[in-house]
Order: sequence, then C-alpha cells, then structure tokens
Amino acid sequence: MDGTFVPIADADELSPDTMKAFELEGKRLLLVRAGDDFFVVDEMCTHEDYSLALGCIKGKRIKCSLHGSYFDLESGEPDEEPAEEPICSYRVRVAEGRIWVDPTRLREGASRRCAPES
Ligand code: FES
Repeated sequence: MDGTFVPIADADELSPDTMKAFELEGKRLLLVRAGDDFFVVDEMCTHEDYSLALGCIKGKRIKCSLHGSYFDLESGEPDEEPAEEPICSYRVRVAEGRIWVDPTRLREGASRRCAPES
C-alpha cells in the first residue's frame, strides 16, 4: 500500500448503504459504503454544519437530512440546493482486508473550504 494511505476500518465492517463517522487528524469524516463502493467525505454539510451521518445514502449520493441537499460522494459537489459549496471527498483504497484513506487533502485544506484535488 502506498505510504500516504492510512487504514481507517476493516473492509467487512460496514454493510452496503451504511456509514460510519470517524475522526482523522482532527477532522470529522464519514466512511460511506454505497453498494460495494467505499467513499470518505467530510462529515459536516457545507450549508449549515449539520452532520451528514444523520442523512441517508441514495446511490452514489448522500443526502443531508436537515434541508435536503444531495452531495455526489465521488466529487463532493452538491447537486441539490440549498448547499452550494462542495464537501471534500478523499481518495480511498481497499487492500489487505482494510479500508485506507489518503489524508493529503486534509492537510492541504486547513480551512473549512475543500482544497482542490492536486
Ligand atoms: S444543513 Fe445540510 S442542507 Fe442545510
């Protein structure tokens, strides 16, 4: 495994269409299993800092349960108002029976806004 990735969960820990909040380097993140695909995104909605862990997974999107914005899990882009700012989506790998995430964007995006992917 590429040395930039860090393990965050066992690969069999989540059932399809479930998620788990966790903290990495002081930032609240969500591990989401959408079908058989895994995503790691910011936990907090960019509209009003509401936890997306209280929302639900619809295909490869996550819905904020407070005002109904949807975010694409791959790009982090909102595709339903009122949210206008994207959440960050982080690179994920499944290897050696574990889920790994690349925290590079966490380090680059010190502010609330998501740092562009390099
Ligand atoms: S807090 Fe998420 S859409 Fe308003």
